[in-house]
Amino acid sequence: MRNLAAGNWKMNGVSTDLAQLRALVEAHPAPNCDILLCPPATLIARMADLAAGSALMLGGQDCHKDETGAHTGDISAQMLKDAGASHVIVGHSERRADHGESDAIVLAKAQAALSAGLVAIVCVGETEAQRDAGRTLDVIGAQLAGSLPAQLDCAPSDLVIAYEPVWAIGTGRTPTIDEVGAVHAFMRAKLLDRFGEPAQEMRLLYGGSVKPSNAAEIFAAPEVNGALVGGASLKADDFGPIVAALGRA
Ligand code: 13P
Repeated sequence: MRNLAAGNWKMNGVSTDLAQLRALVEAHPAPNCDILLCPPATLIARMADLAAGSALMLGGQDCHKDETGAHTGDISAQMLKDAGASHVIVGHSERRADHGESDAIVLAKAQAALSAGLVAIVCVGETEAQRDAGRTLDVIGAQLAGSLPAQLDCAPSDLVIAYEPVWAIGTGRTPTIDEVGAVHAFMRAKLLDRFGEPAQEMRLLYGGSVKPSNAAEIFAAPEVNGALVGGASLKADDFGPIVAALGRA
C-alpha cells in the first residue's frame, strides 16, 4: 500500500497560488507516494488542467449528500468529479463544528462520494476535553461506527480514514508517536472487525500540525499510511519535504 500525502487548503487559495501546484509537480515528477491536494472548489478545475499528466491528484473538502437539488451554496460529489477531483474529504472537524455535521450526515456524504466514484476521506478526532477525560478511543470508536458505511461495497482503497485530533489542528501540538500508534492500531482493529480482511488495505492518515520537521517521526508510527496536512500544504517548499518523507516511510 502506497502512502498518501494529502493537503487540505481549507479556505485558502486564489489564482496566484496555482504557482504552488506547479512547483510541487515539478519537484516531484515520480513520487514514491500518492499526492493529493484539496484546494477550495473554485480552484479544482484549473488545478486539474495544470496537473494533467502528473502524479498529483485533486480532491474536494466537502460534498452534499444529494446529487443535485435546491441547496444554495452547496456542491455535490458529482460536481467535484466533473471538475477533475478523484477524492473528497468528509466530516472534517471544522465542518462538524462550524456546520453541526453529525456522524449520520458524514455517513450520507461518504456514501454520496463513493456513489459518484470518488475516494472518501472520512475524518475523525477527539477534542482536548474528550482527551483529558480519557475518552479518546471511545470517541473515535463512536465516530467510526456512525460515519462509515455498514458494508464495504467499494474497493478498500476508496475509503480512507483520517485521524485528526481537534486539539492538534493548527496548534503546533501533536500527540506522541505512541499515542498516534495506539489510536491507529485501535482504528485498524475496529475496521477489521467491521469489514474483515480487506480493511487491512484501507489507508489511515494522521492529521494535525504535520510539518517538515516532525513528518518522518510521525510517519514511523505503526499503521500510519499517510498524512492530511493543513497549513504546511499551502507552500510547495513545506509540502514537498512532507511528500518526500512519506515516500521514504
Ligand atoms: P494543520 O496541518 O494546519 O494542523 O491542519 C490539519 C488539518 O486539519 C488537515 O485537514
